[in-house]
Amino acid sequence: MLLATIRDVAKLAGVSVATVSRVLNKNGYVNKETEQKVITAIQQLQYEPNAVARGLAGKRTGTIALILPDISNPFFPEMARGVEDVAHQLGYTVILCNSDDHGVKERSYIEVLKKKYIDGIIFASNTLDETDVEEMQKNDLPLVILDRAPIQDTFSVVRSKNYEGAQLAVKHLLEVGCKRIAHIYGPQEFLTAKERMTGYEDAVRHLPWYSPSLMVPGNFRIDGGMKAIEQLLSRHPDVDGIFAGNDLMAVGALKALYRLGKKVPEEVAICGFDGIALTEITEPEITTVAQPIYEMGSLAAKVLIEKITATVKANPIHELEVSLIRRGSTKRGRETDE
Ligand code: RIB
Repeated sequence: MLLATIRDVAKLAGVSVATVSRVLNKNGYVNKETEQKVITAIQQLQYEPNAVARGLAGKRTGTIALILPDISNPFFPEMARGVEDVAHQLGYTVILCNSDDHGVKERSYIEVLKKKYIDGIIFASNTLDETDVEEMQKNDLPLVILDRAPIQDTFSVVRSKNYEGAQLAVKHLLEVGCKRIAHIYGPQEFLTAKERMTGYEDAVRHLPWYSPSLMVPGNFRIDGGMKAIEQLLSRHPDVDGIFAGNDLMAVGALKALYRLGKKVPEEVAICGFDGIALTEITEPEITTVAQPIYEMGSLAAKVLIEKITATVKANPIHELEVSLIRRGSTKRGRETDE
C-alpha cells in the first residue's frame, strides 16, 4: 500500500470524508467517540496528514518528481533535461530520484515524496506494478509514465516507437549488405527492450539464415554489449551485422569487435538505439535509431502539469517517432544515399 486515502480512513472509521476532514483540520464539532475512531483509523492506515492538507486545501507546491532508473546512462539525463526545462518554464521545481531499477528503492522514494507535498510524479522506471499506480491514482496524485510504459489508457504515457525503430535498424543493415544479423537485447522486464526484440524477430524470422541463437542478452550497459559479442561470435563467427538494443551496448559491441580484430563496418556493421551523444565520439561513429529523448522528457512534463492544473482530465498516450541516423559503423558503400 503506497498511499492510504482519506476515503480509506472514512471507510475504516465508519464516518464520512467530511468528518475525517473536520478531525484533521480541527474545525467543526466531532464527538469524542467519533474523533477517536478517526484517529485510530489514521494510525492503522498510517495515513499522511500532508496528503490531506494538499488534497483538502487544494494546495499546490509547484514541485514535481521525476524517478529515473539509471542516471549513469546518458539517455536519462538528456530526458531529465527536457522535463526540467519545461517544468521550470511553467513555474515548477523538479525533484530528481534515481531508482537503480530497484522497486524497494523506488517505493522508499515515494514514501519520502509523500511528505514533500509534491504535485505529481513522472515515472521513467518500471518497477511499479499496476496496483501501485492505482493506489497513487486513488489519491488523485497526477502521474505520467515515461519511456518504459505499456500502452494502456489507465494513465498518461509518453514513449517512442520501439518496435518500428527495431524494424528500421534491421532494414538498414540489410540495405548495406549484411548477410547474417544478430540482436543484442536489453533486459526483457523492460517493455522497450521487449518491443525492440520483437521488431528484430519479425524483420528477420522469414530469412533463411535466421536462428534464435542470433539473439543474445545484454543489460543496457557497455559491459553487456562486450560480453554479448564474445558470446555471439563464438556461436556465429560469420555474423556481419549487429543490431544493439541501446547505444551503450552498441559502444560495448564496437569495443569487443575491435579487441577481436574485427573491422567495423567492413566485416561487421553495427546499429544502436537511443541517439545519445556518445555514439558520435567513437571511431567509427555509430549508426543508431534515435529516440526524441529531450522531446519525450519535455512532453511528459507538459502532460503532467496539464493534469495537475486539471486542464486535461484524459490520459493521453503519446508514441513519438524515431529516426535512423546513418554513420560510419554501417557505411559499407552498398547503400544508395537517399
Ligand atoms: O538506454 C536505456 C534504455 O532504457 C533506452 O533505450 C530507453 O528507451 C530505456 O528503456
